[in-house]
Amino acid sequence: MEIKKQTNLRGTLTVPGDKSISHRAVMFGSLAKGTTRISHFLEGADCLSTITCFRKMGIDIERNASEIMVHGKGLHGLSAPDSILDVGNSGTTTRLISGILAGQNFISELDGDDSIRTRPMKRIMTPLTSMGADIVSKQDNGCVPLVIHGKTLHGIHYDSPVASAQVKSCVLLAGMYADGITSVTEPFLSRNHTEIMLNYFGAKVTSEGTTASIVPEPTLNGREIQVPGDISSAAYFIAAGLLTPGSEILLKNVGINPTRAGILKVCMDMGADITLFNESTEGEPTADLLIRTSSLKGTTIEGGIIPTLIDEIPMIAVMAAFADGTTVIRDARELKVKESDRITVMVDNLKRMGADIEGTEDGMIIHGGRPLHGATIDSHLDHRVAMSFAVAGTICDGTVDILNGDCVKISYPEFYNDLYSLNK
Ligand code: S3P
Repeated sequence: MEIKKQTNLRGTLTVPGDKSISHRAVMFGSLAKGTTRISHFLEGADCLSTITCFRKMGIDIERNASEIMVHGKGLHGLSAPDSILDVGNSGTTTRLISGILAGQNFISELDGDDSIRTRPMKRIMTPLTSMGADIVSKQDNGCVPLVIHGKTLHGIHYDSPVASAQVKSCVLLAGMYADGITSVTEPFLSRNHTEIMLNYFGAKVTSEGTTASIVPEPTLNGREIQVPGDISSAAYFIAAGLLTPGSEILLKNVGINPTRAGILKVCMDMGADITLFNESTEGEPTADLLIRTSSLKGTTIEGGIIPTLIDEIPMIAVMAAFADGTTVIRDARELKVKESDRITVMVDNLKRMGADIEGTEDGMIIHGGRPLHGATIDSHLDHRVAMSFAVAGTICDGTVDILNGDCVKISYPEFYNDLYSLNK
């Protein structure tokens, strides 16, 4: 995929539905009684993997042009799949579904692509095992393929060593099938879509500080869900609008849940001109975001804000390379175990474009303001790397050629069309 310099990005965009919320809507809808209607569902490959898995367990899921209808069968309504559940590239599918499968009365096996086969699953195997689950990594390397023999589970309190919504959600979902209350404490609060949505379906989830607890055996009832625009997808247009001269972009109906909106705070700290309109606080909070070209300066990003912008760090690294001064990113070791090692991959590719950047154990240091030039970028099949460098290509001189750029289909199939739509 070749990207060339652009100016005057102007227009209005509705970014696709939130990936985390779309996954959860299908999963919880499958475990609810009655029909769940989901509008603005993300038709990305990851969420389609979740649909495929639940269809294989007997759930009727209809797709039409404007919505998804999940005909749920209740908490104990899944049936044994007759073959491997294919999770594709999706960490969210793998980790959340494992919590559900651990409490079923059947055996299942999960497998996926080469990337997911390297991602750490011990982080969920450990708490699930202490709940009484039987979950085995077939190659004994703590990764998929995983074989799960469903069991009766016990409620636990789990002190998670990582601030991970996937780990937290996995344990809470297993907790629905336990014999007592299950709770999870994490070092910093990670995204709380599971807690919000499970309660909306009728479960009893309470949150206090960084601890979430669930009462077992909830009755979940089918609901209507309007998925907000994904702030992680909006991030590319926030950056493009801020950095491209003469730009003004309106992003409609973007999710601004505080556990996800760290990118907005960082942009403001960097000097961004962003205005929020039409804020709504019903359910998942949303707003329209007006982005105008700004001169950005470096900043420090560390501690509790990291989980609230973990998926946006590739884009933030690119922004920092174009900003004046130094940006330091710390406490982000988790970047190493995403769809690619995002510290190494961002540092290598930004260096190819002429940036002054060094990787650290848990982040990066970027001395911004050096003029960047076109280069061939290896996406490592990581959708967020590809999109971040597409934005870099709209700003720098020369051509940015992104290898395997079509991996954007994981979370944003129409990304390149939307990017080009702004320069007409
Ligand atoms: C997600 C949580 C995050 C995030 C991922 C989606 C979720 O992962 O990076 O893209 O939907 O729960 P971790 O929970 O592993 O940090």
